[in-house]
Amino acid sequence: MPGKSIQDTISRISQPPTLPEVVMHLIRVVDDPATSASEVSRIISRDQSLTTSVLKLVNSPFYGMSRQITTLTQATVVLGFTTIRNIALTAAIFDEFGGGSTAAMPGGYSRAGFWEHSISCAIAARCLAGYAAYADTEQAFISGLIHDLGKVVLDEYLHEDFRRALELAEQEKMRIREAEQHIFGTDHAEVGGWLARRWNLPDSLVAVIENHHNPTQSQVAPKLAALVHLADIIVRMQGYGHAGDNSNPVIDRMLWVQINISEEAMPSILDDIAEKYHEARDFIEMVRGDV
Ligand SMILES: [Fe+2]
Ligand SMILES: [Fe+2]
Repeated sequence: MPGKSIQDTISRISQPPTLPEVVMHLIRVVDDPATSASEVSRIISRDQSLTTSVLKLVNSPFYGMSRQITTLTQATVVLGFTTIRNIALTAAIFDEFGGGSTAAMPGGYSRAGFWEHSISCAIAARCLAGYAAYADTEQAFISGLIHDLGKVVLDEYLHEDFRRALELAEQEKMRIREAEQHIFGTDHAEVGGWLARRWNLPDSLVAVIENHHNPTQSQVAPKLAALVHLADIIVRMQGYGHAGDNSNPVIDRMLWVQINISEEAMPSILDDIAEKYHEARDFIEMVRGDV
């Protein structure tokens, strides 16, 4: 719709979602080499529900610890700062957006299906990172998890218009992103990027959110954006969760070159992702139910 833009859309969100101060603080300190494990655990311990969530997630089968982790300092030492930051961010995001309306939405969209799509994408991105020799697999995981953050913002804050976008996508067999462009004059990638900036998330995460549909245009972290882009397509193809439309995007051949994975490896990659996806059922249920 001409004249509309990201500014028009975000100006309609009168009270944008915030992250807890504790999580914002963590985001600021984890990249500082002077930060210690005890300092990180001290910050988390100021928030009792976050402390519980972190310890629950650390001890979930998903992280495969051989022994029970009982203190935050232990958790921080064993998992590392980035993982702890990501767990805290995951817990905070599920706290903010985990619930939501359970009412049926057009095209079979639901909040539960959305999170299943997001978690699956996180798992697939982490798996692909391993194949692509991308060292920061944890960064790949969190990038996959929040790549579609903008959708949940549109759903939560501009619900009726988001419903219209889903309807349009279903009726016209167009991608949800194109339908959003028609209704809002912007899309979930831009809206998610806006929120990630407000939350002071690292530049690489902002870039992945903004460019997950066109990773070659990403100035920052193009390989990470490409991994998430491919993960997004794979989980749609495999029917893990529901992204808001039913189209199956074609994989651009250049993508394989960009991430340095041989296309022939695809069957074994799909098997691997399927296995990890089933292993993560507990994680999916836990973050959706308890955290
Ligand atoms: Fe998307
Ligand atoms: Fe997606």
